[in-house]
Amino acid sequence: MSKYKTNKASAFKDNGKGEEREGRHCVHFKCGAVSTIKDVLHQRPNWMEVKDNEEWDFNWCDVGWLRENFDHIYMGEHVRINHFPNHYELTRKNLMVKNLKRYQKNLEKDFGRPEASECDFFPCTFALPSEYHLFVEEFKRNPGSTWIMKPAAKSQGKGIFLFRKLKDVTDWKKDSFHTEEQKDAAHVESYVAQRYIENPYLLNGRKFDLRVYVLVTSYIPLKAWLYRDGFARFSNTRFFLGTINDKHMHLTNVSVQKTAPDYNPEKDCKWQLQQLRRYLTAKHGREVVETLFKEIDNIFVRSLQSVHKVIINDKHCFELYGYDILLDQNLKPWLIEVNASPSLAPSSKEDYEMKYRLLEDTLNVVDMEGRLTGKEKRVGGFDLMWNNGPVYREDANLQTFSSSCFTANTHLGCVNDREKQLSMLLKPFPFQKKM
Ligand SMILES: Nc1ncnc2c1ncn2[C@@H]1O[C@H](COP(=O)(O)OP(=O)(O)O)[C@@H](O)[C@H]1O
Ligand SMILES: [Mg+2]
Repeated sequence: MSKYKTNKASAFKDNGKGEEREGRHCVHFKCGAVSTIKDVLHQRPNWMEVKDNEEWDFNWCDVGWLRENFDHIYMGEHVRINHFPNHYELTRKNLMVKNLKRYQKNLEKDFGRPEASECDFFPCTFALPSEYHLFVEEFKRNPGSTWIMKPAAKSQGKGIFLFRKLKDVTDWKKDSFHTEEQKDAAHVESYVAQRYIENPYLLNGRKFDLRVYVLVTSYIPLKAWLYRDGFARFSNTRFFLGTINDKHMHLTNVSVQKTAPDYNPEKDCKWQLQQLRRYLTAKHGREVVETLFKEIDNIFVRSLQSVHKVIINDKHCFELYGYDILLDQNLKPWLIEVNASPSLAPSSKEDYEMKYRLLEDTLNVVDMEGRLTGKEKRVGGFDLMWNNGPVYREDANLQTFSSSCFTANTHLGCVNDREKQLSMLLKPFPFQKKM
């Protein structure tokens, strides 16, 4: 029986690619966002936006739309949508940690502690209210340390505060969990209490974290791509651990920084990852920085593996994740959170151009036009990082047969000569004139 409801994905004579109109493939898209993605979709040769109730081949929706509609739509073979139905297993802060803890425990059971220690990249975290007592025990074991409280499902720094005294939490808990309306457990908002990284790596005395983009095109088998570009987001205020109630100092979200009294819209609070990698290499040497970036790759792969069997592997879905990674003074990378809807709103011209290229390459990998063979290890700025196992660089395979010397096929913060690579890889669109 057909599952057709109001929002239909196109189910036309499924030729595997898309509708043929006037001898050309035409991709009908729906887009729930107003930012950079809309521009990218509109400039794509022979892609057309549909009206609300029309059928679509490609949908860039928000997670709210997905929640309301995913179970009610029928999707033809070729149709693609930009979220997995239970993406929240990785992108909600409490569930991410639950999945990572389970994955780590299984690794320890099957392979021992050294292997499990490969997952020691997330700060000690408890889900509230369910793990409140465990949290209190841990809190008391570490007197004087700083913690951060975060709503599990909010973003942009909303509802976050730092604390060092249990009294701050008990007062807040009374307000948050025990008001009249919220006595019903179903209405209690979930939070995480997490150890605050007290020694962030500072640049000009300022804290920053990294935003990195990972594209997953399948969970079974796991196929994940890493984008070369990304950025570091800086705080505007010099870091000082003595002051814990200044969110402009401690939260690096751009949306938080924009509200600082001395925020200067002319001065973007971002560095491109290339710039950061160059800076770190000049300061600490190539080897140290290569180790750091290898550890960051490990975070992507392990976190995806932790939900590999949990995420519903619907073949219509892909997901462009925005990872938040924080470096500490020992150049150890920490996983802070994974976003299902990383901000695509530009904060400057350079930021717009970077996001534009990222989204173009996302569409190139998703390949509605059928221009790829499926065997590519690189598409524009995306390098294939995991394909049911680690992916190695072509030249590395020739160097040696010893697997320990194989080099991962990732280039985070390296040169992104995507235009050159795309011009060699992709046939022009059928109706595009050759340059
Ligand atoms: N455990 C932590 N230690 C240090 N800083 C943190 C920690 N958790 C969050 N932060 C800071 O707070 C910001 C917002 O936290 P995050 O978990 O990303 O929530 P949001 O969903 O609101 O962006 C981060 O970008 C980072 O600057
Ligand atoms: Mg964040």
